[in-house]
Amino acid sequence: MSNGNSYLEIKQSPELSGDVSLYGAKNAVLVIMASLLLTSGKSRLKNVPGSSDVLHMIKLLESLGAIVSFDQEAHELCVDTSGVNKWRVQPGIMKQMRASILVMGPLLARFSRADIALPGGCVIGTRPIDLHLKNLEKMGVSIDLNGSYLKTHVSRLSAQDIILDYPSVGATENIMMAAVSARGTTRIMNAALEPEVLDLMEVLKKMGARINTEIPATICIEGGHPLQPVNHELVPDRLEAGTLLCAAAITGGSVFLTNGKKEHLEVFLLKLEQMGHMISSGLDGNGILFKATQSPQAVSFKTAPYPGFPTDLQAPMMALQCLAQGKSIIDETVFENRLVHVRELQKMGAQISVEGSKAVVMGVEELYGASVIASDIRASCALAIAGLAAKGTTIMTGISHWQRGYDHLEEKFDQLGAAIGLFGLSGSPMHVSDLEVKSAEKG
Ligand code: UD1
Repeated sequence: MSNGNSYLEIKQSPELSGDVSLYGAKNAVLVIMASLLLTSGKSRLKNVPGSSDVLHMIKLLESLGAIVSFDQEAHELCVDTSGVNKWRVQPGIMKQMRASILVMGPLLARFSRADIALPGGCVIGTRPIDLHLKNLEKMGVSIDLNGSYLKTHVSRLSAQDIILDYPSVGATENIMMAAVSARGTTRIMNAALEPEVLDLMEVLKKMGARINTEIPATICIEGGHPLQPVNHELVPDRLEAGTLLCAAAITGGSVFLTNGKKEHLEVFLLKLEQMGHMISSGLDGNGILFKATQSPQAVSFKTAPYPGFPTDLQAPMMALQCLAQGKSIIDETVFENRLVHVRELQKMGAQISVEGSKAVVMGVEELYGASVIASDIRASCALAIAGLAAKGTTIMTGISHWQRGYDHLEEKFDQLGAAIGLFGLSGSPMHVSDLEVKSAEKG
């Protein structure tokens, strides 16, 4: 969505304060948009963020024959899938984002075939989609891999007992969407149960699918029932929530996330409390009310599948540790290579050493503004958050990542009092209309 030359300018900011509401979760909307391929007709989604990944998914659905209209002001998306008549996703579209892989299950369910390129940068075997493929094969799907192109077809999807070797979010979602059209009961054991997966489950149920969860971590899908289009309001984005809370924390501020759901962020909020910050709910018991401590203590944490500490909040939380008192040990266990932001935080004066999957952060008195490059969505958040507390000015490039993950998050920061702006190369402020879909990253 960036023109590649734009940048975020972040200045040391006063305490952030105020009320703010969250958009729907990016990680829910992408898969829910893919799931609409299971139905024929008009569905409506509410509170949809206008992030560039959402715009890419719109292009993908349109390329298959869907008619999509997106009211970005009202955050409402209308998708008419009556005319969907293709099951082949063009490689150019596929490579725009890793989440494109999520159309495989719905296309197999609808057309008994799906031809897709491997998502951006993905290599079967190491940064894999092996859990998606292996289990779809178990359901009867034939997979023909030709270079980086996958041709899949199935004569009839069969319900199975599936045990995931790892609770992969994407694999759980793809299998669930294929299973709704397989006659009989599919059980996904060791399934991912992230709030975004549960939001997809909610949508599938509204469509007419019969799905329930069993302890421990099992999703049961009784497939073969007719599916209808849906109206659905997305679950609020817990990752946008976590990012805003970290921004408030590093400036010593207080914010109220009006539609935040504490129950989706329990471990993360517990860690903020251990740092000395105060968390509560609004008067009616809803929302997340946050008040920062002025003397934050360092905490250690380890990322894990839900309900563990979210890998997507590891980088923003690391930014907080840079200015906390003491030593923090951060263990990234979900992704192999998710500490790239360390190098950029170091440029700002952070004291961090990395060994394998672990980063050891020694809190410092001050950070300094620097020119930094965002390498992925959540790294961009960490750098913007650090920039709010750093002396001077931070210039962040690589903001296509920021724009892939969030709908003008800088405007929400600004609304809370942050000194932050999005600029074009000329140095002139950019507006929504200046942004175009160009990002080509996985995530
Ligand atoms: C989703 C989220 C992403 C989040 C991640 C983990 C979306 C669009 N993205 O990504 O923001 O960081 O969950 O919470 O929802 N793996 C395999 N084989 C597979 C699939 C995954 O080994 O077939 C590995 C991955 O390499 C990774 C780990 O499992 O190390 C987690 O991946 P997964 O849960 O699948 O994440 P995504 O669905 O890609």
